[in-house]
Amino acid sequence: MPSTRNTSTSTEEAGSVKKQTRSSQRIRNTVSKPAYNEAIDIIEDESSEVSRGGKRKERSVASAAKTSKRSKPSLEETPSPKSNNDEAVLHDRSESESKTSPKILKNKREAAVVDGGDDGETMFIGEPVADEEARRRWPKRYQGKGAKRVVTKSSKDGSDSEEVIQARRHYTQAKVDGCLIYNLYDDAHVKAEEGEDNYICKIVEMFEAVDGDLYFTAQWFYRARDTVLKKLGHLIDKKRVFFSEIQDDNPLDCLVEKLNIVKVSLNVDSEVKKKEIPSCDYYCDMLYKLEYSSFTNLPPEEKTNVSEEASSTISEDNLDNVVGANNNHEEASLLDLYSGCGAMSTGLCLGANMAGLKLVTRWAVDINKYACESLQWNHPETTVRNEPAEDFLALLKEWERLCASFSLSKSENLEKQSFNSYDNEDDNNNEVEVEVEDEDEDGNGGSDGEVFEVEKFLAICYGDPKEKGERQLHFKVRWKNYGPEEDTWEPLEGLGDCQECLKEFVTAGFNSKILPLPGDVDVICGGPPCQGISGFNRFRNKDNPLQDEKNKQLQVFMDIVEYLKPKFVLMENVVDIVKFSEGFLGRYALSQLLHLNYQVRMGMMAAGAYGLPQFRMRAFFWGARPNEKLPQYPLPTHDLIVRGVIPLEFEMNTVAWSEGQKPELEKKLLLEDAISDLPPVGNYENQDAMDYGNDPKTEFQQFIRLSRDDMPGSSSAKSGKHLLYDHRPLQLNTDDYQRVCRIPKRKGANFRDLPGVLVKADNKVEWDPNVERVYLESGKPLVPDYAMTFVGGTSCKPFARLWWDETVPTVVTRAEPHNQAILHPEQDRVLTIRENARLQGFPDYYKLFGPVKERYIQVGNAVAVPVSRALGYALGLAYQGVVSSDEPLMKLPPRFPNPVEKTSSGSSQDNS
Ligand SMILES: C[S@@+](CC[C@H](N)C(=O)[O-])C[C@H]1O[C@@H](n2cnc3c(N)ncnc32)[C@H](O)[C@@H]1O
Repeated sequence: MPSTRNTSTSTEEAGSVKKQTRSSQRIRNTVSKPAYNEAIDIIEDESSEVSRGGKRKERSVASAAKTSKRSKPSLEETPSPKSNNDEAVLHDRSESESKTSPKILKNKREAAVVDGGDDGETMFIGEPVADEEARRRWPKRYQGKGAKRVVTKSSKDGSDSEEVIQARRHYTQAKVDGCLIYNLYDDAHVKAEEGEDNYICKIVEMFEAVDGDLYFTAQWFYRARDTVLKKLGHLIDKKRVFFSEIQDDNPLDCLVEKLNIVKVSLNVDSEVKKKEIPSCDYYCDMLYKLEYSSFTNLPPEEKTNVSEEASSTISEDNLDNVVGANNNHEEASLLDLYSGCGAMSTGLCLGANMAGLKLVTRWAVDINKYACESLQWNHPETTVRNEPAEDFLALLKEWERLCASFSLSKSENLEKQSFNSYDNEDDNNNEVEVEVEDEDEDGNGGSDGEVFEVEKFLAICYGDPKEKGERQLHFKVRWKNYGPEEDTWEPLEGLGDCQECLKEFVTAGFNSKILPLPGDVDVICGGPPCQGISGFNRFRNKDNPLQDEKNKQLQVFMDIVEYLKPKFVLMENVVDIVKFSEGFLGRYALSQLLHLNYQVRMGMMAAGAYGLPQFRMRAFFWGARPNEKLPQYPLPTHDLIVRGVIPLEFEMNTVAWSEGQKPELEKKLLLEDAISDLPPVGNYENQDAMDYGNDPKTEFQQFIRLSRDDMPGSSSAKSGKHLLYDHRPLQLNTDDYQRVCRIPKRKGANFRDLPGVLVKADNKVEWDPNVERVYLESGKPLVPDYAMTFVGGTSCKPFARLWWDETVPTVVTRAEPHNQAILHPEQDRVLTIRENARLQGFPDYYKLFGPVKERYIQVGNAVAVPVSRALGYALGLAYQGVVSSDEPLMKLPPRFPNPVEKTSSGSSQDNS
């Protein structure tokens, strides 16, 4: 099994799917408060005191004066000579400097270990813990004769070590400043630097070191602002703190005051939770871990009290037994928000089904009608709603009221409202006065009020389908004695007399769940667009990205989560979410889920690491209700070097194998593996479906061609063989086509290979003065000016051919060859929609709808299917509670998801 993530190794990339190492620095950089970061530092050896002190001053506490503070500051400021352990050296603290006054601690190296010593002292009191028991509970403190001992941690690569202060004896009670009694496992404030809020800890050890120094071991609580949330910490209740597993040893006199920190249970019902919180200094309901910015349920009580060695971050579940283990096939419902053509939910359902969870996309919402068409064709079982997500949310609220007004459900969230009027039996003549656009004899438009009778309601929406400038609830009406072509959308307020029709529609809709009510949705997934952070958007609002209308959907997504309260949430976004404005929106997403009392974590996954010839890094946020297991991130299956597109602070969030691990990975895929079997087509190909014409050549091709019912994880009814869909390119205009025809068919070819272009030593292009400019039949230049000036003349992308042995950086939504490498290696055209779909891992049976450009958009917008399938597998396990550990990473079963026996491609172990 994989071993512990190594946090302190070399900076060389070792050649496979691993993080590039700078990891130890990264851990430290991840948390704003140096005090918390440094908790993982090693306690220095006695002999290094002088240099250690200098280092500390440089880093954070240069102006620390004579104040004793937590952790290293106090070590640094108390470099007094070795004490005689039993010698009681008293200090001169007066009563007035007790816990309530702002604490200015004097140099207190001179503490005492005297039972019942003088007031004002800092000392352990009571009997020490019996020697045998102390050695059993804290064995690492009793291993050597010296003051410190190097202990190698249990990581499998064996390179993690720390120095452990050796103890003479342990205690369970201490008196600090002569008055305050602290017991083992008390919570306390710990002195911080001047001007900083005191740190918060649980005292998990109290011991006298062999050199006589008195220590307590702090296990830290984090304030929200000291976690990854940073400046968005203010969105979390001030009294809410997060427990951590980070511990370090501090001089006893750093303790400032005892605290009452109440452990409360997480509850997605904030009101209930609020009532549960008694009067206290702080309350705590979650554990915070730096790895993958995780906030999870608190471990059971005994674990919170006991210090535990850090262990592997990878779950050791026996996954081989999991596939197909759940014969009950528990069914769960999925809502895909901002669904596009449905790639994300398609993958999630396939993966979850492979883990034994029957996950079904019941509802999908997208503003793009072509994307909705595609999703509907591929998922007949899904109710696809073509509307803005904000209208969908408003509709859900109205729907809840409607259902409650007909006593179909209890409306917990909303006031019962005007719909009660529909209970009135007298209001039932079904007659409605409708404004009818008429043309008079002169052909002038006019409007008239006419009375029509409603036959039935067909559909419901919230919005402005009649474009009257007012958003409200509307019903689609079939009029008595009229056909479907005369159906119209009518506002609810005008339908007051149609009591029976309304009741019938709502009852049928409630029974068939045309819309989800709170509690109906088990999983919400979605990629809310944040165009306001896109690198392409020059008008980005850096100061408050949430004010930017283009980022509003992130809030809408969270509002829908808050309203529906699903068991699980998976949100996807571009890596810019943690880059733009110091990761503002990424932190916001985490804070919102936390605010809603979800467990959360965030990881970055590269599509290429899951079996695609495409790099494509994306951020994924998991959320899980408190009573659920928080899903893990599936580790890469394919050998891909993770490139540095992630800000330093979040590099640790990359889902990757750690240094020192030697996983059996598949070779990374190349363009040839994905598309070499597809029949040649030209620039003018216009068929939407055709025969394959030949057999698959690679394992990837064999798998991607599987029929819907043969696809692992598919729950579809038999669909049999399919044609090759969407294998047609964006048709280039004549000029571009002629340009493309002149680009050589070899690796690396692009516009620079055309006559008249010179490449200088600095890799910039310029016109060749000896070559006359070449013009096309249209009179336009062969080499357009924009190609010469793109990225200051340094880019090789205009009219670039891809080559068979390449990995594509990222499939995007456009197919124009002017500023991206998208030409087929050997055919004079851009990659077809299907070729792009293959690079995104869409099964070949997935057919797309809409104009050609729209189909490219759907493919380019998609979450790569192999990534969502792997995440779906992890979700399936978590949903069923088949996850035995709280670790953030998991291994997929061997050869996942391909059941096809291995043929030619070998393991990547020998692929250097
Ligand atoms: C990144 S794509 C999602 C891709 C999808 N997750 C998949 O895997 O195929 C974002 C989608 O959000 C849709 N969208 C943008 N604004 C929207 C809104 N206000 N309401 C609903 N959908 C919206 C776009 O049409 C686009 O399809």
